Amino acid sequence: MCLMFTKGKVVIMRHLIDAKELLPEYVRKLISSAEDIIASPQQYVERCRGKVLATLFYEPSTRTRLSFESAMLGLGGSVIGFSSADSSSAAKGESVADTIRTVSCYADICAIRHPKEGSALVAALNSGIPVINAGDGGHQHPTQTLTDLLSIHCIKNKLGGLNIGLCGDLKFGRTVHSLIHAMSMYENNSFVLVSPEELRIPDYIRQEMIKHNISFIETEDLQRAITEMDVLYMTRVQRERFFNEEDYVRLKDTYILDKSKLALAKKDLAVMHPLPRVNEISVEVDDDPRSVYFKQARYGRFIRMALILDLLDIL
Ligand code: NCD
Repeated sequence: MCLMFTKGKVVIMRHLIDAKELLPEYVRKLISSAEDIIASPQQYVERCRGKVLATLFYEPSTRTRLSFESAMLGLGGSVIGFSSADSSSAAKGESVADTIRTVSCYADICAIRHPKEGSALVAALNSGIPVINAGDGGHQHPTQTLTDLLSIHCIKNKLGGLNIGLCGDLKFGRTVHSLIHAMSMYENNSFVLVSPEELRIPDYIRQEMIKHNISFIETEDLQRAITEMDVLYMTRVQRERFFNEEDYVRLKDTYILDKSKLALAKKDLAVMHPLPRVNEISVEVDDDPRSVYFKQARYGRFIRMALILDLLDIL
């Protein structure tokens, strides 16, 4: 057991590494806190005064890193960190375990993104401060899922009873893996998994869905499947995880959501995307009220504020 001292209290140190930790009760607590922050941001501007967030990003990022940093600054705390492996001692051969031990001396909480699956867990096991997984290779991305859950909750007013389409790179897309785990915990959700054969969800996720009796279908046909969806979660083909460029080039434009496809969808479909987008959503649908991906990016800041407060035991 790991102990942490906050305001003279001894508390158990917690991390967020895997979307399986996002139990509905915990999500409810974070969403309610995020909604309070959205409604009364002024009440939160001093909450993390004197606290430091470290962002350890060994892989590129715009939204995740900046929303974490903006979240901590909005809470009155400070931020340190690096945004590429080249500018850290990883370039000299330092292990994640040694880096996190060091960072624990300078910060109160950290968010880590790393190309290797399992690296956030390794960090947590060696850390003296709460660790948040901000994406570990093609594995998990639980804070994007929190962002997605807050978005769905605010847009659809519920997290269950939804037909959720996930389209694109379901093999390497860590946001997809985490979102499936989390949304499977709500009643009456069903999933339509749209991908080319080579980019289907990993078998361990398929087997878990079968084991837990989750309703899902796998198809290559977006045009046909889109008509029944309440949420369509588009994803980028993850170029950086491919073994060869030829396969990437062949698969990258398999799905492009444009006006003609969107015309077949429900009037209240929510089109989501963790971003960055490449070609998979045509810019011509950005103005459609069903396109909520930029709104979604905005929600990321508030749910990360709630998470930071919770892990620092300040909520
Ligand atoms: C995603 C990621 O990094 O996994 N982006 C994000 O965090 N918002 C999705 C992607 O890069 O395609």
